[in-house]
Amino acid sequence: MIIGIVKEVMHGENRVSATPQTVAKMIADGHNVLVEAGAGAGSFFADELYAQAGAGILADAAEVYGKAEVILKVKEPQFNKAKNCHEVDMMHAGQYLITFIHPASPANHEMVRSLAKKGVVSLTLDGVPRISRAQNMDALTSMSTCAGYKGILIAANHLAEFMPQMFCAVGSVKPARALVVGAGVGGLQAIATAKRLGAVVHAMDIRPAAVEQAQSLGAKIIDTTVPAEEAVGAGGYANALSGEWLEAERAVLAEAIKDMDIVFLSALVPSKLAPVLITDEMLKGMKPGSCIVDISVDQGGNCESTVPGEETVKYGVTVSGIKNIPGMLPASATWMFSMNIYNLLKYLTRDGSIVLDRNDEIVTGVLTTIDGDVVHAGALEAMNAVKVSA
Ligand code: NAI
Repeated sequence: MIIGIVKEVMHGENRVSATPQTVAKMIADGHNVLVEAGAGAGSFFADELYAQAGAGILADAAEVYGKAEVILKVKEPQFNKAKNCHEVDMMHAGQYLITFIHPASPANHEMVRSLAKKGVVSLTLDGVPRISRAQNMDALTSMSTCAGYKGILIAANHLAEFMPQMFCAVGSVKPARALVVGAGVGGLQAIATAKRLGAVVHAMDIRPAAVEQAQSLGAKIIDTTVPAEEAVGAGGYANALSGEWLEAERAVLAEAIKDMDIVFLSALVPSKLAPVLITDEMLKGMKPGSCIVDISVDQGGNCESTVPGEETVKYGVTVSGIKNIPGMLPASATWMFSMNIYNLLKYLTRDGSIVLDRNDEIVTGVLTTIDGDVVHAGALEAMNAVKVSA
């Protein structure tokens, strides 16, 4: 197959979907690889390195989109200012797209519909199930690790005070207090990072297994009051809570956040919109100078006041909704991501072509658009919910 690697167009996005190392692997597998000039620059991979690995370098993004049978990307298709057109407009019927699409996010519904209309076969990395055989394809886990680590550094940078306890000649400074809500992959990494920086770390999760892991990292647990039978669903994943239990959790949170300097939000129900756990009203109770880092923005956000892609200050509280945190850690993030996407591509390929077995849970998890239709369950559910509420 002809595989195209394009330069990411999102502002501040320094990652790239392939390294010279993974390009060499694709070529060894019998594919041809076309790389847009400058695609790897943000992750410190020069065009020459891709050329040495055997890739063709093309100056024009449109040419890569036009010639490739498979496009590998990092972020969902978006408007390409340099070309003055949407990335979807450069794609063609029957072309495969593998990237993070976040199809359930309302901000992406129109783009997902246009992928379907174009006849693009799109596969979303955020749909890779967390099962053992898919572990090496799980880019969400890799990127959540990056976001957990870097997200805490972002919060620490916003704070007007020290993170660790400090002793000096005029007295001692108390350590910062951090609360991590949603102790999954990103949350656990956030707990570990905040602990290393010396904060007093608290954690909340509705799944008992996640609570146990947070505790083992040294976090103090705040009970959500949500019973396990409400919280845990199929495969051990979190359930979307009913309105009543969400209210109960918000009541606990409303009290807890009053004392916090950092609130790190990473609560997610797979393939669903993120639960709104902090309302605008609750934000008013927080300390001026405190900071929320909401990494669930791609699924709509855990805080009502989060502006996707922006850092805003409301009632004296900084609310960070930066969308591409792993892009701020480009070398490590690209190294992990490029291996994940290569492993997924290899898994889907039989005798040199992509073959989609619609009975395979990895395929059903990632497949987003095919034959002109949107088929991703979480996207369809979110699209219907938007329609009903409109
Ligand atoms: P995960 O699925 O490993 O963890 C989510 C956790 O939230 C689970 O432990 C779950 O039990 C918990 N949860 C669900 N509902 C809850 C509720 N009502 N209250 C408390 N906890 C609840 O997810 P992961 O991989 O850690 O990702 C978290 C979020 O971070 C996702 O939205 C993901 O897309 C996002 N992310 C954002 C990035 C960025 O740059 N902004 C980069 C990477 C990931």
